[in-house]
Amino acid sequence: MKYLFISVLALSIVSCAKDKVPVVAADCPTTVSFNAEVLPIFQDNCVSCHSAGNTQPTLEDYATISANADASLASLHGTPSLMPQGGPALPDSVIQKVSCWINQGKLNN
Ligand code: HEC
Repeated sequence: MKYLFISVLALSIVSCAKDKVPVVAADCPTTVSFNAEVLPIFQDNCVSCHSAGNTQPTLEDYATISANADASLASLHGTPSLMPQGGPALPDSVIQKVSCWINQGKLNN
């Protein structure tokens, strides 16, 4: 019985991951919108340097931002260097938005 429960649990976790159901955690109460919330963060704070032909990586649209999302989040926390370059760091609530968007599967919404 105990093993049945564990395998049902494992199975539901696996099928959940496969379906890419957005994860709604306590610190991410709503689904983050890429176009309304994430894109403006990059446009306001990053694109002045990170545009095509300028500093790499390019961070100007869904394709380039989603491809560099993990590195961008790390840089918001100061790894390997703090972004926006020269600081100050973005507010925690803004960094949290980017983190939630990544955890929810980097939706193009
Ligand atoms: C004033 C110009 C400027 C702005 C604004 C800026 N960056 Fe950068 N960024 C750089 C430069 C120059 C580098 C390469 C050298 C370095 O790492 O400092 C870089 C490197 C990076 C890298 C590669 C890894 C790293 O940290 O070296 C990432 C990812 C990155 N930036 C993300 C961002 C994000 C996300 C934003 C907006 C929140 C941002 N940058 C804003 C100039 C900028």
